[in-house]
Amino acid sequence: MQTPPSKMAHRLQVHFHLIFVLCTLLISSPSIHNNLRIVQASSPPIQALVAPITKDTATSLYTLSLSQRQYLLDLSGPLLWSPCSTPHPTVPCSSGDCAAAASGSGAPKSCTGQRPCTVRPTNPVTGEQAAGNLTFTDISTNATDGKTPTAVVTVHGVLSSCAPVSLLRSFPGAAAGDAGLGRGSAASLAAQLYAKLSLKRQLAICLPSVTDAPGVAFFGSGPYGFLPFALLDASDLAYTNLVKNSPSSSSSAAYGIRLSGIAVNQEAVPLAAGVTVTFDTALPYTVLRRDVYRVFVDAYQSAMAGVPRVPGVAPFEACFNSSGLGVTRVGYAVPSVDLMTEGGGGNWTVWGSNLVTQVATDVACLAFVDGGWAAPSAVALGRFQMEDNLLVFDEANSRLGFTGTLLFIRTTCSNFNFTRG
Ligand SMILES: *[C@@H]1O[C@H](CO)[C@@H](O)[C@H](O)[C@H]1NC(C)=O
Ligand SMILES: *[C@@H]1O[C@H](CO)[C@@H](O)[C@H](O)[C@H]1NC(C)=O
Ligand SMILES: *[C@@H]1O[C@H](CO)[C@@H](O)[C@H](O)[C@H]1NC(C)=O
Ligand SMILES: *[C@@H]1O[C@H](CO)[C@@H](O)[C@H](O)[C@H]1NC(C)=O
Ligand SMILES: *[C@@H]1O[C@H](CO)[C@@H](O)[C@H](O)[C@H]1NC(C)=O
Repeated sequence: MQTPPSKMAHRLQVHFHLIFVLCTLLISSPSIHNNLRIVQASSPPIQALVAPITKDTATSLYTLSLSQRQYLLDLSGPLLWSPCSTPHPTVPCSSGDCAAAASGSGAPKSCTGQRPCTVRPTNPVTGEQAAGNLTFTDISTNATDGKTPTAVVTVHGVLSSCAPVSLLRSFPGAAAGDAGLGRGSAASLAAQLYAKLSLKRQLAICLPSVTDAPGVAFFGSGPYGFLPFALLDASDLAYTNLVKNSPSSSSSAAYGIRLSGIAVNQEAVPLAAGVTVTFDTALPYTVLRRDVYRVFVDAYQSAMAGVPRVPGVAPFEACFNSSGLGVTRVGYAVPSVDLMTEGGGGNWTVWGSNLVTQVATDVACLAFVDGGWAAPSAVALGRFQMEDNLLVFDEANSRLGFTGTLLFIRTTCSNFNFTRG
């Protein structure tokens, strides 16, 4: 077993001490305090927006709270959509807005005169599609300084697609629509918020592992605060390049990275070549293409040779009697997995809390699923593997920032302070 890296925790503690010293200075020095106030009053640009992410008990899907409503958090969706009231504003099909929304959603290109623009919203859970008018909506959420919400901001004229109510099938009961946050589409909700508020083109998400305390999404620049004292910024993250998906891929708005290899217990598994990883919040667990799945699960089972096997529990094959397993701050004491990112970005090390899931008393399973040969990407990272990790999709610099599990630094995704400052 590897020893947990303490470098990041140390760096964060140093960070904390610096902040403490700065605060002390500010309190004791009225002149600095006044200068800061003047700067803030004269130019209040918005650094970032913040919204809570809630894990639904029944479906384990996540919703994003916007405008006091819940929308499915859809990391690879190209559009914002929800059922519309009638009448609703429409957009001419000859407009640039229509072209932007249609190219993301794969709608037909035919257009005559001022006909309303229709697009094809997709339900990412069931794969169902429907036709809907493109319309406008207002989105309200809080601005943030990275530590708490600061003030409500309403963004007018956000492009959104109408959809039949039936398209909400399989969503959490509270969900009124789908917040498509995918990349590369000008009509993605994230892209629209960046453009309308001149935010840094950067989306940070932190998915909660629990259903009773929300995680958090940020649109714009860091830092990102997690109680009791972690204030994460660019220097606390490791980075790897975001890659473009193949156009044939089913969800071309998905964020993707490349791995040069995967290791189990620090031993590389025999992959023929590097692999592409996509991020998909519609998947409960990571789905591996058959070739990757076979070598990975075999390697993991070998590494777990000392732990009694129990019969598989669908959809999982590799299950273990967990009664004898040790428990650590980062979940069961099981072999770790290194996702070795391409381009010298370093390893994203995955520990027990994101590797094995408890399916019954005494039964824990390796939480990876066989996607068959036709899987659209070699690795489609699902929700369980992303929980309690801060993921920063930095489109401005075309890179992904990652922290690995926050449990190492004694915090979780549920520790953003949502009490307004
Ligand atoms: C789309 O908009 C047109 C024009 O306002 C309207 O007649 C039509 O009913 C709308 N379609 C749907 C599905 O709401
Ligand atoms: C803004 O934040 C406050 C405090 O967390 C919250 O009560 C309010 O609902 C938020 N407003 C919006 C529009 O999200
Ligand atoms: C990444 O993981 C591999 C496999 O465990 C290991 O050999 C390598 O030293 C790690 N690299 C870094 C920078 O930690
Ligand atoms: C797991 O192992 C314990 C201790 O050997 C045993 O009592 C228990 O029945 C086993 N559970 C399963 C599900 O195999
Ligand atoms: C959360 O933020 C509020 C507003 O700044 C502050 O009063 C409160 O002390 C913070 N909570 C914690 C636990 O730090």
